[in-house]
Amino acid sequence: MERLPLHPMPGTIILGAQWGDEGKGKITDLLAERADVVVRYQGGNNAGHTIVVGDEKFALSLIPSGVMYDTVTPVIGNGCVVDPAVLLEEMAMLSSRGIEPGRVQLSANAHLIMPYHRKLDAVMERYLGKQQIGTTKRGIGPAYMDKFTRQGIRVQDLFDPKIFRQKLDDALKDKNKLLTKVYNTLPLDGAPIAEEYLTFADRLYDHVTDTSLLVANAITDGQNVLFEGAQGTLLDIDHGTYPFVTSSNPTAGGALVGAGVGPSSINNVIGVVKAYISRVGGGPFPTELDDEVGERMVEVGGEFGTVTGRRRRCGWLDGVALRYAVRVSGITEIALTKLDVLSGFDRLKVAVAYDSLEARYTDFPRQQRVLFNCHPVYEELEGWSEDISGAREHDDLPKAAQRYIEFVEELAGVPVTMVSVGPQRTATLLRS
Ligand code: IMP
Repeated sequence: MERLPLHPMPGTIILGAQWGDEGKGKITDLLAERADVVVRYQGGNNAGHTIVVGDEKFALSLIPSGVMYDTVTPVIGNGCVVDPAVLLEEMAMLSSRGIEPGRVQLSANAHLIMPYHRKLDAVMERYLGKQQIGTTKRGIGPAYMDKFTRQGIRVQDLFDPKIFRQKLDDALKDKNKLLTKVYNTLPLDGAPIAEEYLTFADRLYDHVTDTSLLVANAITDGQNVLFEGAQGTLLDIDHGTYPFVTSSNPTAGGALVGAGVGPSSINNVIGVVKAYISRVGGGPFPTELDDEVGERMVEVGGEFGTVTGRRRRCGWLDGVALRYAVRVSGITEIALTKLDVLSGFDRLKVAVAYDSLEARYTDFPRQQRVLFNCHPVYEELEGWSEDISGAREHDDLPKAAQRYIEFVEELAGVPVTMVSVGPQRTATLLRS
């Protein structure tokens, strides 16, 4: 494959500018070809990255996409929450398909997802009834809860069985009260959990390290480091559509804390933007389409979750949310994905503002309630009928598709430097 004229590195953050599922996996995989280190900085196995190499499709949930290149060190940073069984399974899957997972490095400070986190995630959601977040039920939120109440168990604790058992016992005293007295379900027994987790320790031992130091050394040595975000801006615990969010910071600030680097290590922030928009789970969604247009986006775009298989809600590109994402993460350029899915629509719409009873919003509204009740103000653009999946240069695209890309640039105020027109690595156009 032709090599990409690469972006200035060493430090590039790549993150989702919408509600996740923007196609970050493919873009990270492409950029990883020139990277030395790829670091996941937040989230856990709630994420799903699909990478297509030749005829093969790989679904990863925890290991950074860079693992596909044997020259890359894939790192799971301290900001992540790790289900060790899932990590080991993912490594075994890669190994069985000829990809060496021995290079995967795991932060000693990352927090562990424990069986009670998964159980609590499920029962807490059930108790929310109609107010459900629609979590992935992987235990992500409860693991971060424990991190912030300082009751978490970290990867490093696996290597000190006495401390591990002590922390587990302490946690279970609390969790079993919650499970039985609040959520009316069965308690968990600590002994089998300790036994299972302490066997993970031996298997993970060679992977665990001080990943902040590893990344700092890589940067000092002039290596290229890619910081890979999971989920997306609007799912950020601080900047997203709270409470319908995940429990970590996918935005650029999260990369610094979650990998243990300072801002001077970063010189580029790539926002991945799908040419339309989708979300899974509950929460407001101003440009959602509950009609045949939305249905077509789901069908043509294959909009079903990699992790849970859930149907994603789809709608027109939201320029208000896009500008917001550019602002809160300091996005310097955009990778526009799935443009091919928009082929065949007569007219395309992009939201440029929201109207509510009180006001017109061109900036993302401060008050969450507005997002539930507003009406998007759309700009209409001409569609194109051609199949564009074979386009490899900007000039190969129909004029209307070129105009759509330019419109996204004008709205966002930053250049679109990459356009994806299909799932394969080669189905990508580079723009200067
Ligand atoms: P959690 O991250 O499992 O706690 O789920 C919280 C919210 O984030 C739910 O609406 C999920 O559907 C959503 N979510 C979590 N991970 C992803 C992802 O990788 N893509 C899209 N949505 C996600």
